[in-house]
Amino acid sequence: MDTPTASNPAPNRATPPTDEELLDLAREAAAHAYVPYSSFPVGAALLLASGRVVQGCNVENASYGLTICAERTGATRMVAEADDDADRRIVAAAVIGLEASPCFPCGACRQVLHEFGCERVVVEEVGAPRSYPFEQILPHGFGPADLTN
Ligand code: THU
Repeated sequence: MDTPTASNPAPNRATPPTDEELLDLAREAAAHAYVPYSSFPVGAALLLASGRVVQGCNVENASYGLTICAERTGATRMVAEADDDADRRIVAAAVIGLEASPCFPCGACRQVLHEFGCERVVVEEVGAPRSYPFEQILPHGFGPADLTN
């Protein structure tokens, strides 16, 4: 029996989390955001092919441009904690902004999510989850496969 950890809160679940549950995990992550400059907390919950869920929040900096978005703190945490390839493959990325919804990933985050095969993005629209196929979020994205013929 696996022990629950931060990146794997429900290791023994038979079914993947619903989009609603993923948004709840993103909301929980947003509560950790470090946003003294924008006061715009964002949370992300990345559902991985392994079944794990990794959470991320935005982390700002006095040198504004060094700010890291919630999706990218989630992605870097995912890689740092990965045990195998399935822990580095993103099935769905749920994103929530506590001050405004829907909150879609910025362009830089779309590129990073694409790197890890993200299949869809879940946002909150009028209080309910809405799922977008990744191709709609980043059409014709450049990824690892494009480096080879
Ligand atoms: N932000 C995210 O964390 N994710 C996004 O996709 C959009 C923007 C953060 C960056 C910054 O800390 C704040 O939201 C305002 O732009």
